[in-house]
Amino acid sequence: MAWSSPGMTGGRISAMHHIILGSETDFDGWRTAARALVLNDVTPDDVTWTVRGRGPDLPETATTETPLEPPHGTFNVPAKFVELAKTAILHRDAERFALLYRLLWRLRRDHDLLDIADDPEVAHIHAMAKAVHHEVQRMRTSIRFREIGREHNSHFVAWFEPQHHVVELAAPFFASRFADMPWSILTSDVCAHWNGHAVSITPGVSEAGMPAGNRLEEIWQHYYATIFNPARLAAKKSRNLPEALTIKVESESADASGSATDYAETEPHTPEPDMIRRAADRLSALREEAADCRACHLYKQATQTVFGEGPQSAQVMLVGEQPGDKEDLAGKPFVGPAGQMLDRALDEAGIDRKKVYVTNAVKHFKFLARGKIRLHQKPNTPEIKACRRWYERELASIKPDLVVAMGATAAQCVFNKLTPINKNRGRLIDLADGVKALVTVHPSYLLRLPDEDAKAREYQRFVEDLKIAAELLRKRAQAAA
Ligand code: URA
Repeated sequence: MAWSSPGMTGGRISAMHHIILGSETDFDGWRTAARALVLNDVTPDDVTWTVRGRGPDLPETATTETPLEPPHGTFNVPAKFVELAKTAILHRDAERFALLYRLLWRLRRDHDLLDIADDPEVAHIHAMAKAVHHEVQRMRTSIRFREIGREHNSHFVAWFEPQHHVVELAAPFFASRFADMPWSILTSDVCAHWNGHAVSITPGVSEAGMPAGNRLEEIWQHYYATIFNPARLAAKKSRNLPEALTIKVESESADASGSATDYAETEPHTPEPDMIRRAADRLSALREEAADCRACHLYKQATQTVFGEGPQSAQVMLVGEQPGDKEDLAGKPFVGPAGQMLDRALDEAGIDRKKVYVTNAVKHFKFLARGKIRLHQKPNTPEIKACRRWYERELASIKPDLVVAMGATAAQCVFNKLTPINKNRGRLIDLADGVKALVTVHPSYLLRLPDEDAKAREYQRFVEDLKIAAELLRKRAQAAA
């Protein structure tokens, strides 16, 4: 869709067109200014970008005012550029605003520019976005809250040193994960707070203002006394910024026509084609790539992608449904109660777990938060389909002799259609390229059976199914000897 230009908004734009953004994460300000600059044909070499309060202010004599014409016309921007820019702008590299503008400038003439993977600027922006995703992930997994105060007055505080400007992006995750406790994450960039209703952002804790010894409690008390004001924060809406951080390009003329273009006006998002194209990457490369997967919404709530685990040379690939609570936290498949059941059954069937590759149809934990408890939710068909690219690539990478689908979700993934378990279980079924499949129940099904006799009986059937896998392995090993 068109990225339209309703009129010049924001931006102190002068002879050399010095743009001063409202904050380090001012994507809206960057977009408003960039749109006006492009539509006024201002080349990237004629623009400098900085952030208010960062570095020396430009001397007035160096800024001959040459206001731009209110821009007319439209130009198309691929939706994936907008997504990429929103992430890359959070990188700490001071050159990112200029790089994004250079790409935007080039995109106007070459709409497919982002598909040229070896273009140095395209590669650079992708690397920046990836680094930002990794930092969000690091923040999600490394934050440890400390309780300060007790009982009714307790507050949970954590200190984090972000390598990129990810606090605002990562805060909603902590709000949903720790919904029923008031918390604050303090960083030297900005601080995020949750009061049980809304996330608020306040300025960072400067190193200078930090009490000696960096002790969290001291930092918090100092911070609380000087900056933090729960009454004020309570009034803010989720993700709203307080006045001190309101994001705007510095402006000398008011926007006549109103707000900036909404993201909804950009082109619809299409999946990254190269997610599917490269078929036989090493598992380690796949795992790294999958860590940033945004193919469906499940990544938002989950702690991390739980990728498959096992040797590259595995002859058997076991597929489950999705990581559970324990797996989500550990980042490894089948380490909770279902995993223990699986380990026992594999052992009885004569299969060494260390030699098999264990994965899931869906690689993010889907759950409903109920206070501190996370209730498992079954993934639906769009989620299974969105995640199937990873199963396909794991399969192509490992080329196992046998895939064991445990439960209905795994069977739907392996056969790429709804596949009833009872009709198909216990026999070898041909997949493509000489690979066999075996369908059986999911170990969690056994855990849920209320009747002890039924549990023992079904467990034994599960072990018998796995013995078919063990037998196939034995025969293949004999044939290869
Ligand atoms: N259930 C699954 O399907 N997979 C896991 O990793 C754990 C429980």
